[in-house]
Amino acid sequence: MRKIIIDTDPGQDDAVAILLALASPEVDVLGITAVAGNVPLELTAKNTRIVCELAGRPDVKVFAGCDRPIGRTLVTAEHVHGQTGLNGVEHPDPTMPLQEGHAVDFIIDTIRSTDDVTLCPLGPLTNIATALERAPDIAERIKEIVLMGGAYFEVGNITPAAEFNIYVDPEAADIVFKSGTPLVVAPLDLTHKMLTSAEWIETMRALGTPVGDAVAGWTDFFERFDVAKYGSAGAPLHDPCVIAHIIDPSLFSGRHVNVEIETESPLTRGMTVADWWGVTDRAKNALFLGGGDRARFFDLLTTRLGTL
Ligand code: RIB
Ligand code: CA
Repeated sequence: MRKIIIDTDPGQDDAVAILLALASPEVDVLGITAVAGNVPLELTAKNTRIVCELAGRPDVKVFAGCDRPIGRTLVTAEHVHGQTGLNGVEHPDPTMPLQEGHAVDFIIDTIRSTDDVTLCPLGPLTNIATALERAPDIAERIKEIVLMGGAYFEVGNITPAAEFNIYVDPEAADIVFKSGTPLVVAPLDLTHKMLTSAEWIETMRALGTPVGDAVAGWTDFFERFDVAKYGSAGAPLHDPCVIAHIIDPSLFSGRHVNVEIETESPLTRGMTVADWWGVTDRAKNALFLGGGDRARFFDLLTTRLGTL
């Protein structure tokens, strides 16, 4: 089993990723840490607990983390995810409590006390970077950081140059990408190939379960923005790619390259500059994913979500 901490800003796609993790025997979720991103922290911390209760897992430890980026004003994405962050489905308020203590302290304490922990950031990297800055000793203890973020050939989704998670907190991303911890990056180049379809959404509804109904409602809402923006036939399920990679890395392919983060230029803030063709001698710090087996990815999702 892979011991993981999910760091997240739910967000419909984050929510599907959390459900996939909680439904998969290969994954031991040590805790989930909420970060400000798609919507403010109060909502991401609330939505994380809504999803855990939907999965029948009120036992999962959920912590609230950083409520704003390192040195930047928070940029949110209600235009994509709706005002609640989980638009598309009406949810009752969660009854499970937040854990006492800050998410960053949970991340530090867990990595110091537990071997081979994998971090799975699905939102801005503020919590992760703050933990690395406050406790540099954890960088070499982390087994791997498998994150959703960035773009190369696919360019940006929040600006012409940057993907949202990196754009919101480029300083945090710079810290993480320079940490020396092994990185696997699921960029838009990959996630824009993992598009939902009307047929798959109907498969979710046909489960006839609260989880199936929620996933169908979320993705129905979530995809309206991308279909209008890209003219695509469905919405990219960004964050579930991270968990799917943990479960079965053979689903995806990529290249080990150097990736650095633009933090200075207002025009290209948050751009992930991937040395895809090896034109520099910069250290190769990330497995940058670009390809994937869409059919197997959605089969995995359908099978696992069907068990909840
Ligand atoms: O750019 C896509 C990413 O930004 C996803 O993680 C989505 O949930 C938002 O956080
Ligand atoms: Ca996210």
